[in-house]
Amino acid sequence: MFDQIIQEIERQGFSICPHLLSSQEVSEANEFFLRHSTEFQAALVGPETGKKRVEDIRGDFTLWLATDNAPREFRKLFEFLNELKSELNKRLFLGLRDYEAHLARYPVGSFYTLHLDRHEKKSTRVVSFVFYLNEEWKDGEGGELILYDKNNVEILRLPPEPGTFICFLSEEFPHEVKVATRERRSLTGWIHSIQLS
Ligand code: OGA
Ligand code: MN
Repeated sequence: MFDQIIQEIERQGFSICPHLLSSQEVSEANEFFLRHSTEFQAALVGPETGKKRVEDIRGDFTLWLATDNAPREFRKLFEFLNELKSELNKRLFLGLRDYEAHLARYPVGSFYTLHLDRHEKKSTRVVSFVFYLNEEWKDGEGGELILYDKNNVEILRLPPEPGTFICFLSEEFPHEVKVATRERRSLTGWIHSIQLS
């Protein structure tokens, strides 16, 4: 598993594990989404000093998770991330220290336009990752993650299928989330080169 991820990151800068999570794990994650639906907050855009809601840029709602004391439903995902972090350090010397993660809910009709996860100079994001948590996703329902190369040529179009995992180098790939006809659920985060407080 980690061999393949390491090789793909080294070769192409991103790696996909189709259906990494079992349907049981995805279904428990969904129950968590339902129980905590009122705690999600509208995701904002802009600089730290002037963040605002702009649904024409991103329309998702997020709930940050504590990574040191994760809810039971996500403990296995976080163990996987801890292992991924140490394998990436051991074999690719990425100097990863810590990660942060939130659940994301994209209501029907919402999207996230083209952006880079490591946009600001001071950003310490090195690896971006997403676990897709919908229990079902059919062709034609949209919601794909699209990765572009540095010349804005599309290189990957990934539908958010149940339990699929992707990670990619935050600096390398502008990307966007297409509009969907079904609520789109994920656990999304970033591994940083510093210890987060
Ligand atoms: C993000 C993001 C991708 C996805 O939250 O920054 O790009 O597929 N998410 O949810
Ligand atoms: Mn992003």
